[in-house]
Amino acid sequence: MSYLEYQPTNGAVVVTGATGDMGLAITERLYRAGQPVIIAACRQPERMRPYIHNLDVIYPESPSLIIPARLDLSTAWQARKAAAEIGAMGHDITAVINNAGVMQIDHTELSPDGFEMSLQVNCISTLAFTLTLLPKLRQGAAVVMTSSLMRRFPLLRRDFVAKATYATNFAQRFNNYGRSKQILTWAATLLAERVSYRGIRVNCADPGIVNTPMIRLGYGWVDTIADHIARPLMSTPMQGSRAAMQALATPRTSMMATQRTLSPLPSLTAAQTEIATEALRLAIP
Ligand SMILES: NC(=O)c1ccc[n+]([C@@H]2O[C@H](COP(=O)([O-])OP(=O)(O)OC[C@H]3O[C@@H](n4cnc5c(N)ncnc54)[C@H](OP(=O)(O)O)[C@@H]3O)[C@@H](O)[C@H]2O)c1
Repeated sequence: MSYLEYQPTNGAVVVTGATGDMGLAITERLYRAGQPVIIAACRQPERMRPYIHNLDVIYPESPSLIIPARLDLSTAWQARKAAAEIGAMGHDITAVINNAGVMQIDHTELSPDGFEMSLQVNCISTLAFTLTLLPKLRQGAAVVMTSSLMRRFPLLRRDFVAKATYATNFAQRFNNYGRSKQILTWAATLLAERVSYRGIRVNCADPGIVNTPMIRLGYGWVDTIADHIARPLMSTPMQGSRAAMQALATPRTSMMATQRTLSPLPSLTAAQTEIATEALRLAIP
């Protein structure tokens, strides 16, 4: 696939997890492209300040304005509140890039909503944020969901939430992350159908394996091996961010973008549709 160059719109693009490694790379690409308004949604908006200054120095000609906004995806309520605040800013929103995500491998944590944290942040709250912002999106806007190649591995389980909550070992927690991305991807497929009447495109991005803090697993020996052997082979955050930019730039909907490919998301089975419907239901206020 030839690389689709993103053409800035005359509105605002929201990027979640903007202070993360891939979030910063996406923000830089948008800034470099001259996107007029970039809403950098993150847990600690004050952390954006030095990055904004750096971008200003590197790209002095860019007309972009970065507006930091607070977003915590630890609960669906906080996600909706942040979306409502961003919506109330009054910008014409032309895209939402859901980049924020978490992978907890060394411990199991429950969200205040009672879900295992990767399911909460990566899937339910991400959907809650998106669904709350939907009415504010311009006709023909784009929504990007950050998936992962880990979505391919977990087997379909109806008792996933209960299992995830009591995950006790490395493999189970790895599976939790994969399942959160799997369900998010299915929900994106369903959402793409539901919003197509407004011309809104919903696509997924699979960045590959990218050298970011997320790859630090919290197990000494695994991290040491990863640091010395695997990290140099991984993509850089700037390379990984190509997937989100492809998902954003394509005029098509219901697509999976990687750094180099763009392909239609597979149709959902009845069981997958049921699970995706449930995830969307949990996200709706
Ligand atoms: N790295 C990879 O190999 C890889 C592969 C496939 C998919 N991904 C996905 O790519 C996305 C970006 O990850 P990354 O690799 O760039 O990792 P990262 O540097 O750790 O970035 C993750 C971002 O998510 C934010 N975040 C985490 N929990 C949050 C919460 N409760 N509320 C709001 N924001 C939260 C973090 O905020 P703070 O800055 O406040 O910590 C950070 O900005 C994630 O969705 C991840 O699952 C990564």
